[in-house]
Amino acid sequence: MGSSTNSSPTIDLAYLRQMKAAGHKFAMLTAYDYPTAVWAQAAGVHALLVGDSMATVVLGHPSTRPAPLSVMIVLAEAVRRGAPNVYLVGDLPYEAMVGGSDAALAAAREFRDRAGCDAVKFEARSDHDQLVARFTQAGIDTIAHLGLRPQEILFPEGYRAQARDADGIARLVADARRMVAAGAVMILLEAVPNEAAQAVVEAVDVPVIGCGAGPACDGHVVVTHDLLGFGTTRPPRFVPVLAQVGKVCQEAMRRYVQEVVNGSYPGPEHVYRMRRPAGEPAP
Ligand code: KIV
Repeated sequence: MGSSTNSSPTIDLAYLRQMKAAGHKFAMLTAYDYPTAVWAQAAGVHALLVGDSMATVVLGHPSTRPAPLSVMIVLAEAVRRGAPNVYLVGDLPYEAMVGGSDAALAAAREFRDRAGCDAVKFEARSDHDQLVARFTQAGIDTIAHLGLRPQEILFPEGYRAQARDADGIARLVADARRMVAAGAVMILLEAVPNEAAQAVVEAVDVPVIGCGAGPACDGHVVVTHDLLGFGTTRPPRFVPVLAQVGKVCQEAMRRYVQEVVNGSYPGPEHVYRMRRPAGEPAP
């Protein structure tokens, strides 16, 4: 288990494995900026994901595909600065996945070496075990994202739960086994029933992270903007919306507009004063 000089423990893979072994669940959130990372670490969040969901959440695109790799690396660096002790995961965007395995490996190395990520995640097709093996040989811890794979979907209406029957579960379990055999250190399951997640948890010995995958998973991840009520689209049904940050911001901005327009801002407490000429006594 890791340690650190400040108050929160350093969370590494060994720490998360121990949590799983002890039956303790871990909490992961997305983060795309420094302040979110600072608050998340202070709140005790175990792991942060610099997800390609930034394309929808931050950049306002209808799909995750346009997430630029170069921007994601810069954001991952910022998140690492803000949260030096969390387990940090970089998400390989579509741009990195369509360029072939050399491009994907180069992107994974950037997340690890430039941004200080502990692991990379990518949306894995059944034949992606070879890519997992390549990353593993390069010493890059890899999380295989199975179930719903948002990079395949161009509009939010296309998001559908996966593995909802016995055949679907069998395929999911086979994929999870293949990825772990190739070296995946964790599996992430998005939008599958708890029965499917339970089958995967029983089939593999690595931690399984759920994103809308039910309570059987070892850890859970949701998009932070959805959790905080700060997103601009309706969150999926599995997200616990625990604050209304968007409404708080809107109200503060409305008051600011009002104070500027009615002249009550800036008040005397907001203005700089002239320097006193030398020798002049204080009033
Ligand atoms: O990009 C992302 O935020 C993700 C999570 C939804 C799992 O991949």
